[in-house]
Amino acid sequence: MPSNKQKILVIDDNVTNVELIDAYLSAADYDVVTAYNGKIGLDFALREAPDLVLLDIMMPELDGYQVCAQLKNNEKTQFIPIIIITALTDIEDKIKGLNAGADDFLTKPLNKHELMARVRSLLRIKSLHDDLDSSEDIILTLALALEAKDPYTKGHSERVARLAANLAKAIGLTERGQDRIHKAGVLHDIGKIGVSLKVLSKNSELKPDEYIEVIAHPSIGATICQPLKSLSDIIPMIKHHHERFDGDGKPDGLSGDSIPLGARIISIADTYDAMTSTRPYRTAMKKEVAINILKQEIDNGQWDSELVAKFITMLSENNAA
Ligand SMILES: [Fe+2]
Repeated sequence: MPSNKQKILVIDDNVTNVELIDAYLSAADYDVVTAYNGKIGLDFALREAPDLVLLDIMMPELDGYQVCAQLKNNEKTQFIPIIIITALTDIEDKIKGLNAGADDFLTKPLNKHELMARVRSLLRIKSLHDDLDSSEDIILTLALALEAKDPYTKGHSERVARLAANLAKAIGLTERGQDRIHKAGVLHDIGKIGVSLKVLSKNSELKPDEYIEVIAHPSIGATICQPLKSLSDIIPMIKHHHERFDGDGKPDGLSGDSIPLGARIISIADTYDAMTSTRPYRTAMKKEVAINILKQEIDNGQWDSELVAKFITMLSENNAA
């Protein structure tokens, strides 16, 4: 049976230290796992995602800074609190630890009460974050459930997310930037939950009132995601993915660079995927036909022309589509 205890990983090459920490934490009913070098500890953390890591600095193979930086750069482990334990008291070493993403420090010889207080405090923050994370999962599940109802849009959000993240990579955004745009791509049409299925699946031209109903979906999506602070950077991408570069889009008529970059990227990926998928009112276009339409539309004012050019190059260079 899986344990409900919070799991703490201790990575240190000093056996005496590890045994001491293990004894303190096990007595407080934590589930303690130990690793005696950086490489083994890193592999374990990436595989098992513990709730907290206590990390020594000076170790053979991988030192604590390297382990810390790798955990903080990985989406699966980035929010695991890391306490660096070191004999070093030099301010430079603390700065190096902070730069690697460490959340807190403890200095050897360890004070039991200080250790327990820091562990408790970081674990409290971690469990708050876990709750937030599951709220985000619920919204992601809702987005997929919405798509599953409609055979014509099944897989659309995931494909848009992949294309948008690939374009973000092609223009040199960081991995974190690419991940955020991927998430926004998955969620971009979540607001369609608020649009009637009759209108969504209509296979003829929309009446004016139906168009108003559909075009409200970016704002509805932003409202749905609003309570989640962890999505705050993504909400503008959702809200503005139907803006036009020339200012003629919805909901706010933003133009040019005032449209968030992620929204400009998703807008291109969204249109391309819509063209190359079968819809109630037409069959899927071939990739070459869709690319030709994108080229024709460059001067038409709908999109950021530099991004479209990059997107077309990306599609031609690899099989991202
Ligand atoms: Fe949309």
